[in-house]
Amino acid sequence: MRLQPFGLERYFARHEFSVRHNLAASDVQGLALTELLALADEETAALWSRLTLGYTESAGLPLLRQEIADLDDLDVDDVIVCAGAEEAIFLTMHALVEPGDHAVVVWPAYQSLHEVARSIGAAVSLVELRHEEGWQLDVAEVQSAMRPETRVVAINFPHNPTGAQLPQAELLALVALCEARGITLLSDEVYRFLEHDPRDMLPAAASLGERSASIGVMSKSFALAGLRIGWIATRDAALRERVAALKDYTTICSAAPSEVLALMALRARATILERSRTIVQANMVKFGELVGRHADHMEWVPPRAGAVAFPRLRDAEADLEGWIDQLIASEGVLLLPGTLFGSPGPHFRIGLGRTDGLAALECLDKNVRHSLCDPMGA
Ligand SMILES: Cc1ncc(COP(=O)(O)O)c(C=O)c1O
Repeated sequence: MRLQPFGLERYFARHEFSVRHNLAASDVQGLALTELLALADEETAALWSRLTLGYTESAGLPLLRQEIADLDDLDVDDVIVCAGAEEAIFLTMHALVEPGDHAVVVWPAYQSLHEVARSIGAAVSLVELRHEEGWQLDVAEVQSAMRPETRVVAINFPHNPTGAQLPQAELLALVALCEARGITLLSDEVYRFLEHDPRDMLPAAASLGERSASIGVMSKSFALAGLRIGWIATRDAALRERVAALKDYTTICSAAPSEVLALMALRARATILERSRTIVQANMVKFGELVGRHADHMEWVPPRAGAVAFPRLRDAEADLEGWIDQLIASEGVLLLPGTLFGSPGPHFRIGLGRTDGLAALECLDKNVRHSLCDPMGA
């Protein structure tokens, strides 16, 4: 079976670098190399200045793996560094799932979380989050979707595209459900550390159970998408072994400069995360005001975490894609239609992580006033 085109990535390939304002992105505005280097401690500065550009250790730079493990009291051996979260998802799904198996995936979802399993020949059950329910996951729905041949339950909290967060008790319930059935809980945690209320931060699933795997990345909260550094962490040694064997056929090892820069950033994470949260908060407040002003036309469930939200137009029949095309043409502002997540109805993803967010929101406001509030006068 073949992989279907990745709708969101193809859309970004068309628009991401040609629009004036990318108000659809899920990452936080990338740090400049000079900004990151200024945060280096003595050890990482020395690693950087004497860096050689040969192959690196396949599982990742040991110091980097240790730093990742220390985020959650895991062991250095629990961590395999990958080329972004994307490679981690791809390898982990291939390590877990065979044709005829079954996967349960929370949906709407970043496409690879269900598409990779489907392409392998697994049946996939989607457990839906709904706007009307505040995008909250119903753990009982996950349980009833499980089958004897279920190999993996894939979740993603903080959630893309809705910004929903899972209460800790429900994460623990999912871990227990999966452990009891010998199912791997694959927890995509790429938006972790961007909780709008710090009390909402969850432990890494990998630290909670022997059959749980956490996927993390430098791209989102840490504002370093260009490094292409992500990871899988799990105490399941057999799973790690299969992932490592597959990685020999994709990237073999990570880029040496990226590994050192990722280590530098994780050690300076207090500063970097503070910057990320400040950017997201400012955009979130401004967008909340915009939704308030245009409440006749738009509504949202304010996100609890992450750098995106998933509002919708109130008119269920609205031509969402036509409106977004017109927004791109008139204001140079990019939004992401919810259809790219397979989401029915006029939802769109808005990114709150960019430093031009306030200017972009001004343009969006202008467009909404003209094209939604006063379409005849536009
Ligand atoms: C939920 C989720 N998982 C994984 C990824 C992939 O992350 P990366 O592009 O850094 O590999 C993304 C990117 O948007 C995402 O939103």
